[in-house]
Amino acid sequence: MPTAIVTGGAIRIGRAMALHLARKGFDIALLYHSSATTSEETIQEIRLQGVQCRGYAGDLRKLDEAESFIGKVLQDFDNVELLVNSAANFIQENIEQTRLETLVDTLNLNLMAPYLLMREYKRKVNKGLIVNILDERVARTVPTFAVYSVSKVALKHLTELAAVEWGESVRVNGIAPGLILPPQGAPPDYLEKAAKNVPTRTHGNMNDLLKALDYLMENQFVNGEILFVDGGARRTADGELQ
Ligand SMILES: NC(=O)c1ccc[n+]([C@@H]2O[C@H](COP(=O)([O-])OP(=O)(O)OC[C@H]3O[C@@H](n4cnc5c(N)ncnc54)[C@H](OP(=O)(O)O)[C@@H]3O)[C@@H](O)[C@H]2O)c1
Repeated sequence: MPTAIVTGGAIRIGRAMALHLARKGFDIALLYHSSATTSEETIQEIRLQGVQCRGYAGDLRKLDEAESFIGKVLQDFDNVELLVNSAANFIQENIEQTRLETLVDTLNLNLMAPYLLMREYKRKVNKGLIVNILDERVARTVPTFAVYSVSKVALKHLTELAAVEWGESVRVNGIAPGLILPPQGAPPDYLEKAAKNVPTRTHGNMNDLLKALDYLMENQFVNGEILFVDGGARRTADGELQ
């Protein structure tokens, strides 16, 4: 069976993608950080789909851990075909407010770790598909989550560069979600209120993202594409949707 590597696979979007891939017959190598208990539940649920799943604890802010992760997975799984880079932080600090810790952690976790994971995937796996989870903010200029936006814009560019450099052996694409899940700890009416700023006046759901993932997996001629799943939010004026 083919194996998919999913970072941030224990909870929320990463979890939904890992479970979806398991239902499609992928064995799953799931990287988690702080969600140890939840990752155990996710892993059990994935195994119920009849596939192998193994969890790996790791802190992707530590670049040596990021660099060695693909090698570790390959000791356990020999037919890796997909890497989904979903792990990220999302810290609300504009440029002036940005703490040094936020700057370093965010660039390490959201950009440098995916960079190293992608490089190692190319060097050691050299087939299949990489999908980087971005954000519709990459198309706009909203400074409220400043380093986050910088990291995702750079990851978008990296996605496009890698698609050109590696297209013959590894396709590389991105998914740029818009309003899908409320930030953790947000009030219950968050999505409903925020949806008023989206051109469709709706929010998306997990299924919308899973369909985007399916499309990127199934269409072998799509490479270097950034699939926006955002109800058109990226087309709204900067500042309209914070
Ligand atoms: N939610 C949305 O509507 C939305 C919109 C646009 C873009 N996105 C993007 O979609 C992706 C998933 O979003 P989400 O909302 O599901 O994420 P989330 O709830 O914020 O979860 C963050 C994920 O990153 C992992 N992570 C955090 N710090 C880590 C570290 N130091 N090392 C390794 N892993 C770490 C977490 O693992 P643990 O829980 O194990 O610590 C968790 O799985 C992200 O790339 C995000 O930017 C989401």
